[in-house]
Amino acid sequence: MKHLVLFFRDQRMTPEQHTAFGERFGELHIHPAAPYGHDKPALMKIHADKNSKRNNGDAWHSDVSADEEPPMVSILHLHQSPSSGGDTLFANMYDAYDAYDAYEALSDPLKAFLDPLEALHQSDYTGFYRDHSPQRENPSAIHPVIRTHPVTGRQTLYVNSGFTRRIRGVTRVESDALLRLLFEHVKNPTFHCRFSWQLNSVAMWDNRCLQHMAVWDYYPETRSGIRVTVKGDRPFHR
Ligand code: SIN
Repeated sequence: MKHLVLFFRDQRMTPEQHTAFGERFGELHIHPAAPYGHDKPALMKIHADKNSKRNNGDAWHSDVSADEEPPMVSILHLHQSPSSGGDTLFANMYDAYDAYDAYEALSDPLKAFLDPLEALHQSDYTGFYRDHSPQRENPSAIHPVIRTHPVTGRQTLYVNSGFTRRIRGVTRVESDALLRLLFEHVKNPTFHCRFSWQLNSVAMWDNRCLQHMAVWDYYPETRSGIRVTVKGDRPFHR
């Protein structure tokens, strides 16, 4: 709750240990479309190599926010890392909403405008996962634009360029302009930290108050891991 994302080095976890670690935090989430490892749907494969056309998580996003009840926490273990690159960036959505340095946060009038609004989150996994697995599901859901974290009670910005497609209750033109503005806002580096992976690194992040994106700057090398994801609850606002 304090740090939002935790990093651990040199964790030689077996898939069973990784699963058991995730289960300490709750029931595991099954990704609606991604390929999985070791015949266990809860062990989502994160993989890019010389044959890849994209990498996982290449846009700012909160994991599977198009689910009605999006994941709470994700735990990624890399068992093959490139010789350089392949970092993951994390953006603090408490700060994006209301940064300590008020000049970086959303202004009070914009916060007041966004406060009651909801947005459509829509997944489209057909392209990316087509080669890996038969398509299973493309969930969509309506969530508040500003989300209250269920544990800390703090407000977070909860729209992301990976999944959020439309703000409800405003015109299409207004929705497009607002989303463009908010997606740009999330890119402000004062909200960010950046993790450089090594073999057997683990990152564990809270999707309710963070967005992340994975940088694909290591082609044609391979970066490979397993993500265990823990179910969350339905986002609400106040
Ligand atoms: C993801 O879970 O979105 C992928 C993150 C990463 O590969 O660093």
